Amino acid sequence: MTGTDRVADAPRRVAIVGAGPSGLFAAQALLSQDEVPVEVDVIDRLPTPFGLVRYGVAPDHDSIKSVATALARVFDAEHLRFLGLVDFGEDVTRDELLAAYDAVIYAAGASEDRRMNVPGESLPGSVSAREFVAWYSGHPDALAQDLAGVESAVAVGVGNVAVDVARILTRDPADLERTDMPQAVIDVLASHTIADMWIVGRRGPHHASFTTKELRELCSLDGVQVRVAADAFEHIDEADLDRRTRTNVEVLREAAQRQVPEARCRLHFLFWRRPVTLEGTDHVTGITLERTALDESGRVVGTGETSTLDAELVLRAIGYRGVPLPGLPFDLEHGVIPNEDGRVTTEDGHVLPREYVVGWIKRGPIGVIGTNKSDAAQTVRLLLEDLAHLPRDASEDAALLDLDRHLAERGLHPTTFEDWRRIEEAEAARGDELGRARTKIEAWSELLDLVALDRPGGPPTPADGIR
Ligand SMILES: Cc1cc2nc3c(=O)[nH]c(=O)nc-3n(C[C@H](O)[C@H](O)[C@H](O)COP(=O)(O)OP(=O)(O)OC[C@H]3O[C@@H](n4cnc5c(N)ncnc54)[C@H](O)[C@@H]3O)c2cc1C
Ligand SMILES: NC(=O)c1ccc[n+]([C@@H]2O[C@H](COP(=O)([O-])OP(=O)(O)OC[C@H]3O[C@@H](n4cnc5c(N)ncnc54)[C@H](OP(=O)(O)O)[C@@H]3O)[C@@H](O)[C@H]2O)c1
Repeated sequence: MTGTDRVADAPRRVAIVGAGPSGLFAAQALLSQDEVPVEVDVIDRLPTPFGLVRYGVAPDHDSIKSVATALARVFDAEHLRFLGLVDFGEDVTRDELLAAYDAVIYAAGASEDRRMNVPGESLPGSVSAREFVAWYSGHPDALAQDLAGVESAVAVGVGNVAVDVARILTRDPADLERTDMPQAVIDVLASHTIADMWIVGRRGPHHASFTTKELRELCSLDGVQVRVAADAFEHIDEADLDRRTRTNVEVLREAAQRQVPEARCRLHFLFWRRPVTLEGTDHVTGITLERTALDESGRVVGTGETSTLDAELVLRAIGYRGVPLPGLPFDLEHGVIPNEDGRVTTEDGHVLPREYVVGWIKRGPIGVIGTNKSDAAQTVRLLLEDLAHLPRDASEDAALLDLDRHLAERGLHPTTFEDWRRIEEAEAARGDELGRARTKIEAWSELLDLVALDRPGGPPTPADGIR
C-alpha cells in the first residue's frame, strides 16, 4: 500500500454540533454506510445528549421519551464519540472545527422563542412556553417557576406545545408522579390553584396546528370541563377540511358538549382572538385580546373588538426560534442557517464547502422527531458525495488540528457518553429513593459533580463552558 493510498483510505473526520435527534440521526446515517470511512464526534454544550427528547417532549408521554433509548444505540458505534460540555462559539470556534475536521454538521436546534411584540410582554407572569417546558423538563439553565396565586392561566398559540403546557397544568397532579420530572417541579404542580386554563388561537379551530391525538388526550382529561367559545365554529365549511382538521373540529365540538360533574378545573378554547396587550404594572393581571377575521387574501386582521381575560400567567406558545451560531451566516427572518438542501450557503446563496446543517436550525422549528431522520439522511447524502471529491494529501491529513489537545490546553475536558450513563444511573437511584422509576437531576452543580469523578483537574467550572 502506498502512502497516498493510506491517506485516501484514512477515515474522514466529521464533527456534529448538537446531540439532539437531528444530530444523532446524522451520526447514524454517516456510520451506517460503508462508501466513505468516517470518524464522528458529536459535540453538545450540555453533558446530556438527546436535545428536546430530554428537555422538550412532555414527561407524561413516556412512550415518546423512549425514543432516547433508540437514539442512545447510535453511541454503540465504534467510531463515534460524545463530547459534552463543549459550547460552540464559546469553547470552540467555527475556524477551529474546520481546522480539526473534514466536515462539520450544525444541528443546534432552535433555542429561543418567537415574540408576540405586544405591550406588557416582558412583565413577570409572561413566560415563554419554551422556558416553562425547560423548567418542568429539568433543563439545568431553566428558571424555577412559581405558580403561587395563579388562578387563571392563558396559553397563546394552538400548536402541540400549547397543548403540552395546558395538559401539564390541568391534568391530575397524581398522574405526574410517574414521570421523571424533578421533585421540586412535581411539588409546585401538585399544589397550584389554577381553576381556569385558556388556550387562545388567532385563527379558527380548523387552522390550528395541533394534532388530533394530542387534542383528544387534552380534551379527555379526568376532572376537566372543556368549554369552547360558540363563535369558534362560525364560517367553517366542513367540505373544505382535510381529515386531521375535520377530526379536530369534531373533537372540540364533542368535548364542549360533554358535562364533567364536579370538575377540578375548566379548560377554555378561544379562537379568532389575538393578543394586543398584557395587562398589569408589576405582574401580569390579564390579557387583552382582539377579535380577528381573515381578509380576502387569507391574512389575519383585527376587527377592533376587544375583551380582557383575567390571568396571572400567560404562556407564549407561539413557536421556537433558531439563534445565529457565532461566525456562521444566518437567515434572521426564518431563524435558520441558510442552506441548499443541507449544504450551508452564504446569505446570498453561495455554497460554503465542508459545512452542513440538519434539523430545526436547517428547516425552522417545525416537525416531529421522525422528520429529522429523513432530513438528516438528505444532508448526509450530499456530504458523502462532497467528501468523495474532497482532495486530500498526507500533509493536509497531518495538519488537521488535534481538538482534544487544543481543548485540554485551555483547561477544557469534554464529558463522555460514559459520563452521561453515570448521570442516568444517578437519576434512576434518585427515582428509587422517591418510589419513582427515575427523577431528573436539574442542578448544574449536581450534574457537574457527577461528570467530574475521573476528570483531570477536578470538576469543570463555569469558565470551562457552563453558562
Ligand atoms: C416542547 C416540545 C415538545 C415536543 N414533543 C414532541 C413529541 O412529543 N413528539 C415528537 O415527535 N416531536 C416532538 N417535538 C419536536 C422534536 O423535539 C424536534 O423535532 C426535535 O427535537 C428537533 O431536533 P434538533 O436536533 O434539530 O434540535 P434539538 O432537539 O433542540 O437539539 C439541539 C441540540 O443542540 C445543542 N446545542 C445548541 N446550541 C449549541 C451550541 N452552541 N453548542 C453545542 N451544542 C449546542 C442543544 O443542547 C441540543 O442538545 C417537540 C418539540 C417541543 C419544542
Ligand atoms: N406531541 C407531539 O407530537 C408534539 C408536541 C410538541 C411539539 N411538537 C412539534 O413541535 C413543533 C413546534 O410546535 P409549536 O406548537 O411550537 O409550533 P406550531 O405548531 O407552529 O404552533 C404555533 C402556534 O402559534 C401561533 N402563533 C404564531 N405567532 C403568533 C402570534 N404572533 N400571535 C398569536 N399566535 C401566534 C400559530 O398560529 P398560526 O397558525 O395562525 O400562525 C400556531 O397556532 C411542531 O411541529 C409540533 O408538532 C410535537
